[in-house]
Amino acid sequence: MLDFTGRVAVVTGAAMGMGNATARLLAKQGATVCLLDISDGVEVAARELVDSGYKAYGYKVNVTDQVDVDRVFDNIVAEHGLVDHLVNSAGIARLSSMFDEQADANLQAMIDVNIIGLWNTSKAALRSMVEKKKGSIVNFSSVTGTFVADAHEVGYAATKSAVWGMTKAMCMEFVTEGVRVNMVCPGMIRTPMVEKSAAEMMPDNPEAVLSAIGASVPMGRMGTPEEAANAVAFLLSDEASYITGREIVFDGASTLPETNVKSD
Ligand SMILES: NC(=O)c1ccc[n+]([C@@H]2O[C@H](COP(=O)([O-])OP(=O)(O)OC[C@H]3O[C@@H](n4cnc5c(N)ncnc54)[C@H](O)[C@@H]3O)[C@@H](O)[C@H]2O)c1
Repeated sequence: MLDFTGRVAVVTGAAMGMGNATARLLAKQGATVCLLDISDGVEVAARELVDSGYKAYGYKVNVTDQVDVDRVFDNIVAEHGLVDHLVNSAGIARLSSMFDEQADANLQAMIDVNIIGLWNTSKAALRSMVEKKKGSIVNFSSVTGTFVADAHEVGYAATKSAVWGMTKAMCMEFVTEGVRVNMVCPGMIRTPMVEKSAAEMMPDNPEAVLSAIGASVPMGRMGTPEEAANAVAFLLSDEASYITGREIVFDGASTLPETNVKSD
């Protein structure tokens, strides 16, 4: 098991989905975990961890609001010490229509959360890490935009490939400061984000959409938030000490097939 004892880890988007699974795993591995989310559920998520005997604190914050992000990070440093690890999981997907019909406001919303939010929290966390001369960040990119794309994904793909570029540039800027910056590229992971998209596609039977997505993956199923958390924790940990500016793809081989022809 990885050991984060004595470390302060901040996880954004920690009220649900992969951010929540990551926060739970890091807490079990000994970290003091600060869960950040725009949703009220962040308080509940933190309380659940505290009730299980772990060190966890919930902070309700909109990552797009730089002033509020800075205030929260100042509180975290004052209450728990300098930040060792940051996981940027907060993200949104607006995939409801084709590019030529997509409301411009949807693109702006994705830019605000997926790019500006990550910018704000990374800046705030890096102040701690540079002072410590040690730290690690894991950003949530996606296979979308970096390796593959479907219809309806122009705006989302733009923001997730931006995360790819930001990760590499941040890596190069802080590689001599003892700070590592990596990213994960999930394929189809069953989280509230994907369940919501399925409900929008087929309100009467979202489970049919989810089953079809799972069946389309070579491994025959979607991934779980816990499987995502394992990859994130590894990249954050000292065990990944020579890995920076890189990505782990976890997609059940969904981005691998050369053709759709089945051999049986
Ligand atoms: N689920 C997938 O299949 C998948 C695949 C590829 C990439 N991703 C990316 O992984 C990350 C996590 O996705 P997920 O599926 O767990 O999503 P999710 O929707 O289940 O959870 C995202 C969390 O982010 C929070 N959030 C949204 N806007 C916020 C804001 N402005 N400030 C603070 N918190 C905010 C939400 O409240 C929510 O708790 C996202 O960046 C997503 O784009 C997901």
